[in-house]
Amino acid sequence: MQFKFTDEQLMIKQAARDFAQTELKPGVIERDEHQKFPAEQIKKLGELGFMGMMVAPQYGGSGMDAISYVLAMEEISKIDASAAVVLSVNNSLVCNGLEKFGSEFQKQKYLIPLAKGEKIGAFCLSEPEAGSDATSQRTTAIDMGDHYLLNGTKNWITNGGTASTYLVMAQTDAAKEHHGINALIVERGMDGFAIGAKENKMGVRGSDTHSIMFTDVKVPKENRIGEDGFGFKFAMHLLEGGRIGIAAQALGIASGAYELALQYSKERRAFGKTLADLQAIQFKLADMATEIEAARLLCLRAAWLKDHGHPYAQASSMAKLFASDVAMRATVEAVQIHGGYGYVREYHVERLMRDAKVTQIYEGTSEIQRIVISREVLK
Ligand code: CAA
Repeated sequence: MQFKFTDEQLMIKQAARDFAQTELKPGVIERDEHQKFPAEQIKKLGELGFMGMMVAPQYGGSGMDAISYVLAMEEISKIDASAAVVLSVNNSLVCNGLEKFGSEFQKQKYLIPLAKGEKIGAFCLSEPEAGSDATSQRTTAIDMGDHYLLNGTKNWITNGGTASTYLVMAQTDAAKEHHGINALIVERGMDGFAIGAKENKMGVRGSDTHSIMFTDVKVPKENRIGEDGFGFKFAMHLLEGGRIGIAAQALGIASGAYELALQYSKERRAFGKTLADLQAIQFKLADMATEIEAARLLCLRAAWLKDHGHPYAQASSMAKLFASDVAMRATVEAVQIHGGYGYVREYHVERLMRDAKVTQIYEGTSEIQRIVISREVLK
């Protein structure tokens, strides 16, 4: 066992850190305030190869490993968790799904522009009545011979208003329950495709979350991913990798808040000392540093298992479960260390605290992660 990154991994981490400091930090408070999507910054991240990080170069990606992905996600999330979730969905759920299970036609037509960051992807599984209970899909894709007729509504869709390519799970044969679900590639602008109102969220406000409606959308058969009825397994498999991305996002939010609290505690003076001289603050920093390191190791372990072709469902759920709780605790403590300054916008920690909460909710709530972990433990 070696606790050492390669030169390439360290280079990617540094590139992500530099980008976050120079390109993401300047407007992050304003984007959060006004729910503004970081369009320009995502375009640049695409040009730098961060939108299709793990995709093979022949399909427009950067051919990096999952460890590098975790390192980049952490650095970007420290500064802008909204930009990080755009990246996470595009990389883990959309590009990964198309590369692993798409046909050559689908890779050429859809994967290449997504991996190059020329287009943005969205993953449409959740519905008004199918969030955690993902098998209960109400969106229907009726088999019409050469195409599917798609009807229904998807909720909470990250990149909903900015994507061009949507991977949509829909029920084709209800009698087969989850074995009757298909995954279809839907293009923005197909007849009958509509984008609902933007959600006004507590956190990750720069990311763009909408409901998406389908009314008699004709989706060609060639846009079905995998065999008939593969849609549910497809979604579950992708979420295993997606949870590594969200765990790394939570890790970044936690470590971003920690770095700010550490710096502040060295600068701010009270009772004739710096805050860092006070044992009450020292103990808080010690707990934060320890928990963050443990979360980091869980994230890297899940990524390592994925990179080496081992099963990683349990590891990714453990990483997400733990890192998202650490993100909540660390951000609350960071606000506390900042005192009144922590409660106002310009010190960043209150935003990180709001951003942290969603990591316990999306890509499966903490309760869902416990289901996945306990099933593996009890196998
Ligand atoms: N890989 C492949 N197949 C899998 C799988 C995996 N990781 N996990 C489950 N499956 C298969 C099972 O083998 C089973 O297949 P068979 O019937 O052929 O044996 C089938 O899927 C159904 O599995 P379960 O019986 O375990 O289903 P369940 O309903 O009891 O529980 C669940 C499944 C874990 C609760 C699942 O529904 C789940 O993960 N729910 C949460 C959904 C979720 O994470 N949504 C996030 C939306 S995306 C998002 O948030 C993105 C964003 O915006 C940031």
